[in-house]
Amino acid sequence: MSSDPIIRLDGLNKSFPIYEKPMHRLYQMLSPQAHKQRWFRQFQALKNISLTIRKGETLGVVGRNGSGKSTLLQVICGTLTPSSGEVRVDGRIAALLELGSGFNPEFTGRENVFLYGTVLGLTRQQVQERFDDIAAFADIGEFIDQPVKNYSSGMYVRLAFAVAINVTPDILVVDEALSVGDEAFQRKCFARINRIRDDGATVLFVSHSAGIVTQLCDRAVLLDRGELLLDGSPKFVVSRYHKMLYAPPGRIDAIRDEIRNDRDDGGVPTAKPVLSMSSVNQDDERLVASATALPSPCATGLSQGWFDEGLVPQSTVRYDKRGATISMPCVETPDGRRVNVLRAGDDYVYVYRVSFQENAVGVRFGMLIKTLTGVELGGAASSLPQDSLPLVEAGQTIEVRFRFRCLLDGGTYFCNAGVLAHIAEEETYIDRLIDAAMFRVMPQPERLATGVIDFCVSSEVAVASGSEARA
Ligand SMILES: Nc1ncnc2c1ncn2[C@@H]1O[C@H](COP(=O)(O)OP(=O)(O)OP(=O)(O)O)[C@@H](O)[C@H]1O
Ligand SMILES: [Mg+2]
Repeated sequence: MSSDPIIRLDGLNKSFPIYEKPMHRLYQMLSPQAHKQRWFRQFQALKNISLTIRKGETLGVVGRNGSGKSTLLQVICGTLTPSSGEVRVDGRIAALLELGSGFNPEFTGRENVFLYGTVLGLTRQQVQERFDDIAAFADIGEFIDQPVKNYSSGMYVRLAFAVAINVTPDILVVDEALSVGDEAFQRKCFARINRIRDDGATVLFVSHSAGIVTQLCDRAVLLDRGELLLDGSPKFVVSRYHKMLYAPPGRIDAIRDEIRNDRDDGGVPTAKPVLSMSSVNQDDERLVASATALPSPCATGLSQGWFDEGLVPQSTVRYDKRGATISMPCVETPDGRRVNVLRAGDDYVYVYRVSFQENAVGVRFGMLIKTLTGVELGGAASSLPQDSLPLVEAGQTIEVRFRFRCLLDGGTYFCNAGVLAHIAEEETYIDRLIDAAMFRVMPQPERLATGVIDFCVSSEVAVASGSEARA
């Protein structure tokens, strides 16, 4: 990634006129210029946003509904003009904004490919050369020669995305449009976005999916009520965003203030960079994950792992409590020994306690294991909703134990803990800890499995043909 800025926003504001009644819009148009009455009030959708995006960055934009994400992207793409402030964009933008933008509904798909391609800066000749690739990616068959007004929303997005990625943009902007496509198409799009990114393009991506933002982006910003609240690593930003999303209504303002003052520690979580039994350079937190400097379990005599006091998560985020408190999250061996350096293939128990300060109905518990960068690997709920605990009374404490087999590659992992209950007929978190506990899995030099999770793959290798020929 280069450090050259490709998009620069400085003190950006965007207001929309809001009319109380549809008629007021008409009155406004008809009201005489000289003593013009104002029939609207201004609604500020973006407030004083300053942001620099560097060439090659993949930026995730998250925030609640109506927080200003689409407005921000549209101002960057030039489809909306800012009310004040400066926008500088140095490159060709291909945008997938909301459905309906870009295409003329009366034209066929083929005609729109040419129309949209030329809007995005290609000559007709260049669109012609790329047409087959575009049609193949969209994969909508003979509908390519039908007017797009007859398309389903999925077909529409397929074609729009196919054009956007084939104009070799410097900047690709995607506003949740992909959630319309089916999963196979989404997978194809993400693979292509990765390729575009690897080729050095800048990608701006709005999504409500924490998993997609953490996997795809290398930076994220949180918008709320038009304000840029937070800018940092995806994992950091998403955890705060979720805290706000699940907050009880009366607490949202306090949480916004808390978040506004929060600072990212630089993106790489979170382990205290001290290994009690190693000489890892404390300046390089990434090394904490590599664990190569650890003693072997045989050397310590602790074949099922051990406890390293230096391994304490520093990225723990607690949602607002609503009558319950999670405490003492940790990993144990099945015989009850506390560990946080684990051996792949062995069984462990993730344990935490929940004390209830208020009566809670329909109670369930959950856990989730994530990678260092926040990718959600897997977890479980303690029961289905219909089997939840009908009532837990104030004053009670419950211990929750999740037994799991450690089928992970060597590295550092983080665990969430959460308690769900029903408040006003809706199931919600009454306490949740993000990065409640962490553990490290020892590296396995003889490992055949590849990737993070070991699916216990077995292989058979045999000569299938060619032996007769040689005989
Ligand atoms: N043309 C418009 N006229 C008036 N208000 C608008 C207009 N466009 C957006 N807004 C308002 O600006 C605010 C931000 O809208 P925006 O569409 O940017 O939100 P968003 O974060 O993309 O939301 P979502 O997650 O629902 O897509 C909202 O309150 C919306 O009602
Ligand atoms: Mg939007």
